Amino acid sequence: MTSPKHKIGIIVGSLRRDSINRKIANSIAAFTSDWLECDFIEIGDLPLYNEDDEADPAAAVQTFRDRVRAVDGVLFVTPEYNRGVPGLLKNAIDIGSRPYGQSVWDKKPAAVVTVSPGAIGGFGSNHHLRQYSVFLNMPMMQQPEAYIGQVGADSFDAAGQLKDGPLKGLVIKVAHAFADWVDLIIRGRKLISEDQAHSG
Ligand code: FNR
Repeated sequence: MTSPKHKIGIIVGSLRRDSINRKIANSIAAFTSDWLECDFIEIGDLPLYNEDDEADPAAAVQTFRDRVRAVDGVLFVTPEYNRGVPGLLKNAIDIGSRPYGQSVWDKKPAAVVTVSPGAIGGFGSNHHLRQYSVFLNMPMMQQPEAYIGQVGADSFDAAGQLKDGPLKGLVIKVAHAFADWVDLIIRGRKLISEDQAHSG
């Protein structure tokens, strides 16, 4: 991959202090640090979306939109709540999608990773996000699918790092695939924009 590093916003769908999703997100940021500059975009202070507020959006809303607009790609790492996307994350996605025609998600390459102590690894939440990505026009990494199940506090060492083993191997594979995916989309788009045959 070429330099400079692509800028990625990581959005975690949990506010829990010891969130296993945040720990996996930290790992992905570390495993891609040669190619990606990852920053966490926090969503816990966003107000509940209300279209009436568009005339004078809260500072937190404006900051959030600006931060997403500034990145080259987005990584969602989230739990599943009741077989769906946590309301916290859905709220952030809705905020970023408005005002109509000014969505900050448009064209950003993305991936979704769902992490759960359960056996099916947040499949429902993962696929809801994939469905949103179609309307939001976010090119979504297809493979590897990352339904990361059976994760618990004992998957990590005292410093919060993934212990060696199959789980760590899987997360490295997902992380490297995401770095490749973002590079493919960004560089492909640049080549097309420079290609006279595609102009006009
Ligand atoms: C859950 N959890 C859960 N897990 C799952 O695999 N499928 C589900 O549908 C749900 N539903 C659900 C609803 C609510 C309201 C809560 C609070 C939890 C369990 C969840 O996966 C577990 O709490 C994870 O540890 C949450 O991720 P973080 O916060 O550790 O990142």
